[in-house]
Amino acid sequence: MNKRIKIFDLTEQYKSLSKKVNKDILKILKSGQYILGDNVNKLEEEFSNFIGSKYSVSCNSGTDALVLSLRALDIGHGDEVITTPFTYFATAEAIALVGAKPIFADIDPKTFNINYNDIEKYINRRTKAILPVHLFGQSAEIIKIKKLCKKYRISLIEDCAQSFGAKKNSKYTGTFGDFGCFSFFPTKNLGCAGDGGMITTNSNVKMKKLKKLRNHGGLIRNVHEYIGYNSRLDEIQAAILLAKIKIINSLDKKRNEIAKLYQSSIKNQLIALPYKTEDNSHHVYNQYTIKVKNRKKFVKYLSANSIPYGIYYPIPIYKQKAMKMFNYKCHLNNTEKITKECISIPIYPELSKESIKYISKVINNYK
Ligand SMILES: Cc1ncc(COP(=O)(O)O)c(C=O)c1O
Repeated sequence: MNKRIKIFDLTEQYKSLSKKVNKDILKILKSGQYILGDNVNKLEEEFSNFIGSKYSVSCNSGTDALVLSLRALDIGHGDEVITTPFTYFATAEAIALVGAKPIFADIDPKTFNINYNDIEKYINRRTKAILPVHLFGQSAEIIKIKKLCKKYRISLIEDCAQSFGAKKNSKYTGTFGDFGCFSFFPTKNLGCAGDGGMITTNSNVKMKKLKKLRNHGGLIRNVHEYIGYNSRLDEIQAAILLAKIKIINSLDKKRNEIAKLYQSSIKNQLIALPYKTEDNSHHVYNQYTIKVKNRKKFVKYLSANSIPYGIYYPIPIYKQKAMKMFNYKCHLNNTEKITKECISIPIYPELSKESIKYISKVINNYK
């Protein structure tokens, strides 16, 4: 291997889009309209057309998408929201930011998503919503979770930060809940060149409330209905996303081809490959996360062979220092185990076949 393998590489994708994107950015700079303009409106429309939601409301980040959704539902102090402890910190952080308490259900050790069977026991009169994450690009048990929400008349917020393009029963993630929350962080499947986020909803009332909340609580100058946020998407990011959403299916195809290649070429009893549910679902492989018992040893081995890796996520969220105020006593067995064994290897559309073969060979030789 002569070219250094990276855990992700954003430069190649930029190269393929640079002609169009550079032209669009220059046009925006010359126009003087930088925030919430034509590009943002067009992106919101195209996003809804792609996903199949009635409305899309853009904002500043995936974290803000979650916070705004929780606020739109009036979730706050004294309320509880059930979520997964095996996710990026922002999921639970958003719940805490609105003043509510994140309640953690255990995960499924195969899919790493929230374990549907572990949720119901945590539902009580304080429970206002369930917030599952479609982790690493694979849908959670969203249809069953939706039924549970209906049964208890609680809301459903989908964290789709890692699942743009993923499907369950032929429907895109982000169309099942009251809200679908997306992140455009650069390494996401649909990423921009900075921070950005999107919320999908089918409710006209909620869409209007979200548009106010993202803009200091109001749409008319000097009229503020809510204590809101400055969480608007800018025109440059919207233009980049518009260029990228046009090629997203081919990028997704490449991620799936890489996953297939790993799946057929990595054969080592010490390594468990990602589990893909067999139902009518579509995985978009934001991460390719494998399991290994002795991770410390494996990490050293990968490093010695110049293979980069990521550990998503090494600490259950209920053990994070920032969550101390909630005084959690939980010890969720699957979460504890998976946080110790998970390790993600490179996957991004531009990863070369040569690199995939090299990574697979090195992993196959691990003893
Ligand atoms: C599952 C999940 N939720 C929320 C977020 C937050 O998104 P952002 O970084 O755009 O705020 C991320 C981002 O990494 C994420 O992976």
